[in-house]
Parts: sequence; C-alpha cells; structure tokens
Amino acid sequence: MLMGRMNMRTIITLLVILVVEGCYWERGVSTTVTYDHKALVIDGKRRILQSGSIHYPRATPDLWPGIISKAKEGGLDVIESYVFWNYHEPVRGQYYFEGRFDLVRFVKTVHEAGLYVHLRIGPYACAEWNYGGFPVWLHFIPGIKFRTSNELFKREMKRFLKKVVNLMKDENLFASQGGPIILAQVENEYGNVEDAYGVGGKLYVKWAAETAVSLNTTVPWVMCAQKDAPDPIINTCNGFYCDGFTPNSPSKPAMWTENYPGWFLAFGYPIPYRPVEDIAFAVARFFEKGGTFQNYYMYFGGTNFGRTAGGPLIATSYDYDAPLDEYGFIRQPKWGHLRDLHIAIKHCEDYLVEADPSRVSLGMNLEAHVYYKTSNDCAAFLANYDSKVDANVTFKGISYFLPAWSVSILPDCKNVVFNTAKVVSQKTLDDVSFVRNTITRKSSLASSAWDWYKERVGIWGSNSFTASGLLEQINTTKDASDFLWYTTSVNVDEKIERHHKNVVVLSIASLGHAALVFVNKRPVGFGYGNHDDASFVLKKKISLNPGNNTLDVLSMIVGLQNYGPWFDIQGAGVNSVVLSGLKNAKENLSSKRWNYQVGLEGESLGLYKVNLQNSSLWKKGNALPTNQSLIWYKGTFLAPDGKGPVSVDLSSMGKGQAWVNGRSIGRYWPAYHSPSTGCTDNCDYRGSYNARKCLKKCGQPTQTLYHIPRHWLHAGENILVLHEEIGGDPSKISLVTRTGQEICASLSEADLPPSDTWNPKVGFSSEVPQVRLTCDQGWHIASIRFASFGTPEGDCGAYMQGSCHANVTSIYQQACVGKQQCSVPVFAANLGDPCPGVLKRVAVQALCSV
Ligand code: GAL
Repeated sequence: MLMGRMNMRTIITLLVILVVEGCYWERGVSTTVTYDHKALVIDGKRRILQSGSIHYPRATPDLWPGIISKAKEGGLDVIESYVFWNYHEPVRGQYYFEGRFDLVRFVKTVHEAGLYVHLRIGPYACAEWNYGGFPVWLHFIPGIKFRTSNELFKREMKRFLKKVVNLMKDENLFASQGGPIILAQVENEYGNVEDAYGVGGKLYVKWAAETAVSLNTTVPWVMCAQKDAPDPIINTCNGFYCDGFTPNSPSKPAMWTENYPGWFLAFGYPIPYRPVEDIAFAVARFFEKGGTFQNYYMYFGGTNFGRTAGGPLIATSYDYDAPLDEYGFIRQPKWGHLRDLHIAIKHCEDYLVEADPSRVSLGMNLEAHVYYKTSNDCAAFLANYDSKVDANVTFKGISYFLPAWSVSILPDCKNVVFNTAKVVSQKTLDDVSFVRNTITRKSSLASSAWDWYKERVGIWGSNSFTASGLLEQINTTKDASDFLWYTTSVNVDEKIERHHKNVVVLSIASLGHAALVFVNKRPVGFGYGNHDDASFVLKKKISLNPGNNTLDVLSMIVGLQNYGPWFDIQGAGVNSVVLSGLKNAKENLSSKRWNYQVGLEGESLGLYKVNLQNSSLWKKGNALPTNQSLIWYKGTFLAPDGKGPVSVDLSSMGKGQAWVNGRSIGRYWPAYHSPSTGCTDNCDYRGSYNARKCLKKCGQPTQTLYHIPRHWLHAGENILVLHEEIGGDPSKISLVTRTGQEICASLSEADLPPSDTWNPKVGFSSEVPQVRLTCDQGWHIASIRFASFGTPEGDCGAYMQGSCHANVTSIYQQACVGKQQCSVPVFAANLGDPCPGVLKRVAVQALCSV
C-alpha cells in the first residue's frame, strides 16, 4: 500500500540512503572511549560491561563466528584476547598473521557480531602459553633481560607493541576509527612478580606505561594486578573474587580483568571445575559493590594445538570449565545461569552508573547495597556472604529469603529477579553427549593396519656435537624440538662388575620436565616432574656389561614455563648423573664429555608430514609393535559422519604427540594419572573457592580425548600420525564424535516468580514463566526422552516418574521436535493438573542432534 503511494524517485532516494548508511555502518562510526571513577565512558555514556576471553589460536577460524555469537547470546558486550608474540614473529622481523593467527580477521569477526574488543597486547601473555608468549629467539639476544629495565628488551617489546598497534590502526580497528577495540593492555600481572626485579622492575613499569600511552591508540590502557600502575593506566583486578578491590586512584573505575570460571588443566592433575552458583555470587558481589567491568577468563578456553601449550606440563585441552566448552558448545547450566545474571545486571545499568552504592547492614554476614537515582527510585543487591547459614532478611519493609553465599538482585528495589544460588537454567549432560565410533569400524577406518617406524635410540645424525658437562636444555635446543639426547659411555672393569652385579645404581637429576633413560640401548627408566615442580630425580638399579656400556638419556620438555619471576631462565634438562656402587668407574658422570643431539630422527625426517605417507620408511605387516618406547605410528581413517566435533581417544597410549593430516593436534599423556584422592563430584559452592577446591577424575588420566578440528579433515582418507614416547597400543585408538546431546530442563512451581513480575528475556511482564529447551546452534530437538508434570524424581539423565504424574511428552513433542529452541508455559491449566494442591514441577529431557 505504502509502496503504491511512493513514486519511483522516492524509492531510489530511499535505496541510496540505505546503501550509503550500509557502507557507513560497515566502516563503523567513530566512538570515543574514556573513563571516570565509575566506569568506562563510551560516547559520553558510562557503561556496565560483561566481557569474556576467547583466544583466537585456541580454535580454528571457521569456529570463531559461532563461538562469538554464543558469547553475545550469553550476554557479553566485550571479547578479550591476548596477542601471541611468539607465533606472530617466529623469526625476528618475519611476521605471521594467518590462519588461526589472523588477528585482524578475529577482531573483525567480533566487530561483525556487534561486540567490543579488549586487546591485551602485552606482549607478555602468561596464559598457559609456551614461554608466556615470548619468542624463544628473544632469549638469545646477548645481554637481554626480560621484563625489567633492560634496553635490549625494551627495544624489542616496544617494536612489537608498535607493530600490533599499527596493524590495528591500518585496519581502522580502534574505536575512534569506527572499530571495536575499546581497551588495550600492556604487560600482564607484573605486580605479582615485580619485587623480584628490584629497582629495575619499578623503572620498567613506568617505562611500559609511558610507552603504551605514546602509541596513541585513543583507547584507555589497563595493567592488571599492578597496584602501582602510573596514571592514566587503569590498574585492574584478577582473581576468583574482586569485590574488595579498589583502584589506585579515585579517578579510575573498578575493573575485573580475570574472573576464572574454572581453572586450567595440567598433565598428572585432576580436572578442576567451579560451580556456577559461586561464579555468579562473585560477579554479583563485584557489581553490588561498585564494579562496572568484568571479564571471564576464559569464556571459551579451546585447545592448545601443536606445541602452543605453556609449562611446565600444561595439558592440550584448555577447556577451563568455561561457559563454552573446548569444542565451542554451550555448557549448561553455566552458560544459561550467567546469561540470566547478565540480563539482571543490565536491568540495573542506569542505576549502577549513576552513583556509588550505599551500604545497609542486614545482620551478621548480611548486607544490602543500594543504588539510588532519587530517594525512592533505586536498584538493590542483597547479599548473604555467610558460607553456611541461610537467612531471612527484611529490606525496605519486605522479607526476603537469602540462601547462604548468595546475592539477590532487585532492579526496582523490590522484586527479586535473580538469585545467584538458584539455578533454573537448562542443564546439559556432558558425558552422555558423546557417542563413540571406534576406529576399527568400517565407517571410520579406511585401513585396519597401522604402519610404524622405530625411532633410533641415541645419536642419530651428523649434526650431533660434544661438550663438557651437562648442558641446559632450552639453551641447547632453542625450542626447535621438545627433545634433547644426552649420551655417553661407561667403561666397566670386568672383575669388579661381577663382584657388584645388580647393585649399580644410576641416579639422574633433572630440572625437568621428563626423561627416558636407556642403558645399552634398552629402556631402564622414565622420570618426570609435575606442573608445580618439574624437577625430578630418577634412581634405577641397572646392570652393566664388562667393558663399554652406552648411556642415552632423552630429556623432554612439556611446554616452556609461562609464569613466575624470571620464568624465562628457569631452565630444563639433565643436571646431574651419578653412578653408585661401581668402584672403578668415575662415579659422577656430570662433568665428563657428553654427546648431544637436538630432536628426534623422525622429526628431522618429517614423518608426521603428509608427503611421507607412502614412504618406504614406514614398516607394514602383522607384527605391530605395542607397548614399546619411541615408536612412530601411522593410521588412516574416514571423518565420522555428521557435523559434530571430533576427537581421538588416546587412552590406550602413553605419552607423545599426534598429527592429523600433517597438523599437530597437541601433546598427549594419558599414562599420567592424577592422584587418587581429593576429588568430589558434588562440590559445595558455598565458601571461598580456590583452584584445588573442586576436582574431578582423581586417579584417572588427565586427558584422554584430543580435539581434531573438523576443518582439518576432508572426505576420503585422513592420516593420523603419533609419536609414542613411552609405550602404548594404537590398535585400541578410537574416534569420538558428538552426534547428539541430551538436554534437560526442570522448573518447580516453588521457583516460579509470582506472575506480573519478571521474565529474563523481557524484564517485568505478566508473561507466564516458560520451560525453555535450547539446542546448540545448528542442532535441533530430535525427540523428547522424558516429560513429566507432577513430582518426578531424580536428576537430569535419570528422571523417573513420581507418585503424581501427568505425561506431558506429547505437549513437548508438538512444541519442540524439529526446532532449535522451544518454550512451553508452566501452569496447571496448560499441562493438566494430576494432583491439585500438591507442589509440582516439570522435568523434561530431550535429545538434540544435527
Ligand atoms: C593469570 C594470568 C593468565 C593465566 C591465569 C591462569 O595469572 O594472567 O594469563 O595464566 O593466571 O589461567
């Protein structure tokens, strides 16, 4: 109708406006970012911002848009990432910004999703990343000292900071240029180690701040965990809780740059997890007490592909128990509960930015913080920070129930829209969601045979060399390989050897991280440290032959250290070798002449490469060697059907590295089990959390599943190469793919807010609360496994019909099957009342598939 009345000229004018506006939007509108004592100020407006860390190289670029859009749907405004210097400048002056390291593309992807970016340029990252993100070549600049007032270091650091800032400027990515970057970070948690650097440390902080500011990014800079951050740099808080944090100047806002939703994983350790009730409590407390910016470290953790993992002994999975799991899937109820929290906080935004809160005591360990716009227009947070005792409190004449260790949010100072301890969000069953396809099935394995290549023990190439004494490993390998051979010979007098048979003890001490020892080319022992102390001593009784004996030690790195004062010069490798009980041999072999070889023969041959797949180096046949050290294996497989993420189950293997179609999927070490005690599957969220409080999988391998990005697979045969260091059985390796996901939702009438109040999606309304089922993006609800309204028993995965039961399966089937998301209102008239007068709940379990 309207069109009918418009003439052609008007239509063309409108189209032109649309096109011009479209371009304008694409180029972006210039945005100013400043700050005051309350908040970051974006285009003149104070903002409450939720942020989350997503490290671009920990996923493949095809996955970035999905991960970022789930972060947006989860209520985030900002995506944070470090910049990883060692991969961007592998050789001094030679830059690499492609593939997983395409920083510009990543920042643009965030921009396209309509989110802001906090770029932590560092260039020190920490991040459980190899060498904390520093290129190893930096260490070899004569006279350099890292992270202190050393001219050589400062010159290199400034050069890289400038490189990144200019790259962002050239692409118009700073906010003032219409881009998404609103914040930048220099250094990282230097305040935690500063004392160890003495006066040099203090000067360095000042220099780093001045250098950052001189780069003229037009956005504020932060230094995290840096009490003495000079103006105008904002010092920010990192930790499990930051509600006690005050910035170092009244002109700076309280910002929290690292809030850990779990913790990282190290080989030989159990899996840390953090209950979402406690995370929500920490976040709510922070905003309650005046905070205005908060970042989850990590929101999506991802995978340490290749040799990117830091050390010592950081595992390949960087899942972090984050709201998005290692594969980028929504982890419930964590993701949903935090999303609901973000919505509740957003509803208070106008109040939170207006003024500082007033504190009202409500009793012991009970308090309210009230944000007033006017004397009768306010938002409030009510907190019970007692770790045990629930409480009833009275606030402005109304009584509220506050479970222990919880915060209630009242955007109108009256109605509770969210309590951090009340998780009503949909749950996902992590472990049920994987379906196994064994590699021996026709569908997943093109050839049932494995080929192998036995690695040579000891010196294998012409580039070996000799030196007096035991060399430090990183200085020797320059991190070109995880491996360094230390080899020597021991001469034994025949008579004495006979007399002392079997009482010779070989004692090898190492700074870390692991070592495999061979006497006369036969393995005699394997020693290793752990993440907290990578050093170890390996003592073994050995027998020697009369005359000449060979001793070969293969020392191994499992990720270069990334944290601590002077972490860059802690060193690794064998530092003492002593033989005892042998009278005529030199007892201490440490200072004798040793032969060295960097790396493995198979690495130098390039056995992991696709172009060697048909090489005659690979042995074939029925006699597949298993449970032997130092063997390369090669097998082929077909990509599992479907779109679900793929991993390879390496629980039958020992320790090594795996490659798929020539790309390293990381180090594996399932033979390293965590200690058998200290775990709990039902960790009490109440009380202060720390990284050792809630652990699972005690006495088990730390990591058995290793992510193979779908993007790295192709139709037809794919090649899996493994280098097994200590012994395993490749015939038992299987591929795992996610073909379905069980989801559950449950809501009790007791949880329902009185109608005419709150709905997280729309705010205050008289809408009836709904039970919502949501599959991950691209997935749909295939079937309803269970749906009961009444008194169903059990938990997600094991629901059972209770004494009062209305079978509401068909209602859910109708509303949900075939859809990605569905909602069914919860009220008796809709579902049929099987037992009037009884408090009922709905419990639904559904299957999502692609
Ligand atoms: C912090 C550091 C992060 C990360 C984290 C633990 O100290 O700033 O980069 O290492 O610890 O995951």
